[in-house]
Amino acid sequence: MRPTTAALWAAVMLVGLQQLASLAASPDSRVDCSSKNLSSVPRDLPQEVEFLDLSCNHIKQLHRGDFRNTTLLRSLNVSWNGLEEIDPGTFSDTPLLEVLDLSHNRLKNLSGQRYLLHTGNLLTLNLTWNSFLTMTLGSAFTSLVRLERLALGAKNISMDDFKNIAGAKLQTLTLCLGDELGYEAGSLKDVHALRLQIASTSGKLVDDYLYADALSLFDEVELMNMTGGYRELSEQLSQRIEIHTSHLYLTNILIHWQDLTHYVNVILRTSITHLCFSDMAMSRLPQVDTDVTKKSKMKSFSGRRVVVKSFLFSQEAVYNFFINMPVESLAITETSIIHMTCPKSQSPILQLDFSYCALSDSIFSRVEGQQTLECQNLGNVRKLILVGNNLKNLQFLSKRVQYMKSLQHLDLSLNSLIYEGLEECVWPPNITNVSLSSNRLTHTVFKCLTKGIETLDLQNNQVSVIPSSILKLGNLSSLNLNANRLRDLPVCDGFPILNQLLLRSNSLHAPFVNKLESCPKLKTLDVGNNPFTCTCALRSFIHLGIKSERKSHPGIELLGWPLDYYCTYPEDVRDTILKDILIPDVTCNVAILAVTILCPAVVVIVAVVILCHRFDVPWYMGMIWQWTRAKHRARTRQVRPEDLVGVEFHAFVSYSQHDTDWVHNSLLPNLEGPAGGLRICLHEKSFVAGKTVIENIMGCVGKSRRSLFVLSAHFVKSEWCHYELYFASHQQLALGSDSIVLVLLEPLPQYTIPSKYNQLKSMMGRHTYLEWPQDMAKHRLFWANLRAALQADLPDVPVTEIEE
Ligand SMILES: *[C@@H]1O[C@H](CO)[C@@H](O)[C@H](O)[C@H]1NC(C)=O
Ligand SMILES: *[C@@H]1O[C@H](CO)[C@@H](O)[C@H](O)[C@H]1NC(C)=O
Ligand SMILES: *[C@@H]1O[C@H](CO)[C@@H](O)[C@H](O)[C@H]1NC(C)=O
Ligand SMILES: *[C@@H]1O[C@H](CO)[C@@H](O)[C@H](O)[C@H]1NC(C)=O
Ligand SMILES: *[C@@H]1O[C@H](CO)[C@@H](O)[C@H](O)[C@H]1NC(C)=O
Ligand SMILES: *[C@@H]1O[C@H](CO)[C@@H](O)[C@H](O)[C@H]1NC(C)=O
Ligand SMILES: *[C@@H]1O[C@H](CO)[C@@H](O)[C@H](O)[C@H]1NC(C)=O
Ligand SMILES: *[C@@H]1O[C@H](CO)[C@@H](O)[C@H](O)[C@H]1NC(C)=O
Ligand SMILES: *[C@@H]1O[C@H](CO)[C@@H](O)[C@H](O)[C@H]1NC(C)=O
Ligand SMILES: *[C@@H]1O[C@H](CO)[C@@H](O)[C@H](O)[C@H]1NC(C)=O
Repeated sequence: MRPTTAALWAAVMLVGLQQLASLAASPDSRVDCSSKNLSSVPRDLPQEVEFLDLSCNHIKQLHRGDFRNTTLLRSLNVSWNGLEEIDPGTFSDTPLLEVLDLSHNRLKNLSGQRYLLHTGNLLTLNLTWNSFLTMTLGSAFTSLVRLERLALGAKNISMDDFKNIAGAKLQTLTLCLGDELGYEAGSLKDVHALRLQIASTSGKLVDDYLYADALSLFDEVELMNMTGGYRELSEQLSQRIEIHTSHLYLTNILIHWQDLTHYVNVILRTSITHLCFSDMAMSRLPQVDTDVTKKSKMKSFSGRRVVVKSFLFSQEAVYNFFINMPVESLAITETSIIHMTCPKSQSPILQLDFSYCALSDSIFSRVEGQQTLECQNLGNVRKLILVGNNLKNLQFLSKRVQYMKSLQHLDLSLNSLIYEGLEECVWPPNITNVSLSSNRLTHTVFKCLTKGIETLDLQNNQVSVIPSSILKLGNLSSLNLNANRLRDLPVCDGFPILNQLLLRSNSLHAPFVNKLESCPKLKTLDVGNNPFTCTCALRSFIHLGIKSERKSHPGIELLGWPLDYYCTYPEDVRDTILKDILIPDVTCNVAILAVTILCPAVVVIVAVVILCHRFDVPWYMGMIWQWTRAKHRARTRQVRPEDLVGVEFHAFVSYSQHDTDWVHNSLLPNLEGPAGGLRICLHEKSFVAGKTVIENIMGCVGKSRRSLFVLSAHFVKSEWCHYELYFASHQQLALGSDSIVLVLLEPLPQYTIPSKYNQLKSMMGRHTYLEWPQDMAKHRLFWANLRAALQADLPDVPVTEIEE
């Protein structure tokens, strides 16, 4: 058991390694050895080669074992080699071979191509341009059961030549035939192919039986490389009663105008339903109109890459021939026609395609004198395709098609259309599907649309905004504005049933999702590849994207999410997909932001207020303020020395008898003693006998630098004290406003002061006073302040010490 497992494991490893190797060497799967002057298959081809091109060398022979080492070969091109012989075992090592091109060689006998026995997987086999005399396919062809495209060429084709491929269901059988062809009627009856291509190697191919068989056996017949023989073909076609072929192609042909028109007229009378010319060169073009068959079973006519070989001819005659064709679908594409005329009578054409021509704004119209006559004979046209022309003015175009009453589908992509918004557009009423992509239209285009429009493609224009005052497009369900210049999502007021809105590659920075509320029917939205700015404004949009990811979610499907949605700004998140961007709520929501900032602020303020209140900060502040003022005053205001003559005391103290205790026990010890060093005059202490109280007081005031009033309810009641104040206020004039100091012993609201004491009232209003604090802790500061207010240099203790 164990060795088996090990072996298995090793095998798995080996296979894995081989696969790795083949992956790494994938460029080697395609090897181009064309035009290398090789005379044999190279020996050093990489083993992995799948596509090998050995064309244009001189490999004369292919041998068994030439491809022994290239077992993965799928496509081999040995054309243009002068190859004469291929060994029957050549391809026994390349079972995967699908494409084998052996054209332009010198192989001789189609019955003898025995190497084909080993190429059972072939899809495409090209054996044209060899030296085959007869088309007799050997029995080896029976092994090509998967074959889809077979290309052959020989001089003679006879009955039973193809019986060995009767079992293959071919897509295309290509026969490259020269003009000396010997064709036996009915030879092609064994072939089962959808399309028969007959390429003329000489340019001229005249074989009635071949044409007859082609037209009666194959759905699609393509005649290639013809420069003549049209008369015979036309005759053949007109004589035949029964034609099986529905699609007839003429490719790479050179034809006279007369032959072409004759030929087309003949075909119009047959049962062929689709006629297609491509790579056609027309010569001998007409000067006058050519008649065209009036009635036909033909459904479509198309001309692709048509060129003219004449210079002098009537363009109108050429256009007239084509536009008057009685077909349902007319297409002339990749052809440099500059105008198209109007049919002579009401045309049965349902679909017109003039893609990639050179048509101008005058299309279908005719100028007569000063007037432009609009075409009225294309009333059945439902679909008009004018992609890639030279159209310039959308309003003119609306005039050109105004009588196409059945027009539903209009494609004007890839022109240079503009609309200036001045003149009214006159579209026919039934247009539902309009493509105006890749033009130069701006927002004014919304004024030039029809009401019934359902699908509107404005891709790759210059629309920067959808005007709010547009015509109501009540049936518009799909609006493509990819690659324009929009800066925000539009409002759907103008298109209430909009289902699909494409805004890829515009200039949307931060789509305002709320606008989508006006689009109740919106199912599909594409805003990919816009320059998103990943800031708060984008959050609702990111949310929309994430929501759309959920399959069960019934809302809007966001196309291209998440890979096509990435930030362009700010720099640090550039190219990050929106889905991976996280924009926190806090930074965006104003309310939350306010709360997060304001809350702490409020807390701090409240705390400060509480703390202030708790520790009487305002009182301290007031005290400090007073103290600094006092200091400042002391420094700046200098009293002239002569004014201080006779002044003995720093202060005279006036107080009510009721406050005597405080004055004696608190005030005086703090002012006079060693702590204060001030001299205080109390009228009872410095009382001079023999003088009246008034005289004593007057004396005291006169000898003091300042007057200190201890204010309390009692003081206010005392007339006496009022007088003292009166004197003091007079003296104040002499010694400056700082000569009066008020101490408020208890709160003394203004109303408690009788109105007659104007003096006191005004003084209390003017002077800032010192308040006696109840809190013991604050007393020290109070005293310091009071002392500072009273401090002054007095002349009496030695006079010489008075400043300076
Ligand atoms: C091609 O190869 C042949 C011999 O195989 C040689 O004679 C000839 O000169 C070569 N031609 C070129 C262009 O190399
Ligand atoms: C195949 O490969 C072997 C060894 O690499 C080499 O000797 C031999 O010539 C090669 N054969 C062919 C036909 O390339
Ligand atoms: C083989 O090469 C020739 C010449 O290079 C080229 O024309 C032809 O298309 C090639 N065949 C295939 C099947 O690619
Ligand atoms: C062609 O090949 C077949 C079978 O290999 C053979 O019978 C026949 O004689 C060959 N014909 C010619 C002309 O070589
Ligand atoms: C041979 O035919 C195939 C398929 O019909 C085609 O792709 C290829 O180009 C042809 N080879 C040449 C040299 O024309
Ligand atoms: C080819 O056909 C012609 C006329 O049908 C005939 O004369 C000729 O012998 C044929 N050639 C061959 C090789 O079958
Ligand atoms: C087309 O016909 C010309 C002759 O008119 C010829 O030289 C050319 O090889 C032909 N081309 C093909 C693909 O048959
Ligand atoms: C236009 O459309 C309406 C409704 O679809 C239809 O009844 C009417 O026949 C159409 N007009 C033409 C001219 O086709
Ligand atoms: C409208 O035109 C576009 C582009 O030609 C086409 O893909 C689409 O299917 C059309 N829609 C309708 C409803 O005809
Ligand atoms: C919108 O479509 C409905 C139903 O197809 C139709 O009846 C109506 O006329 C259309 N509206 C316009 C303005 O064409």
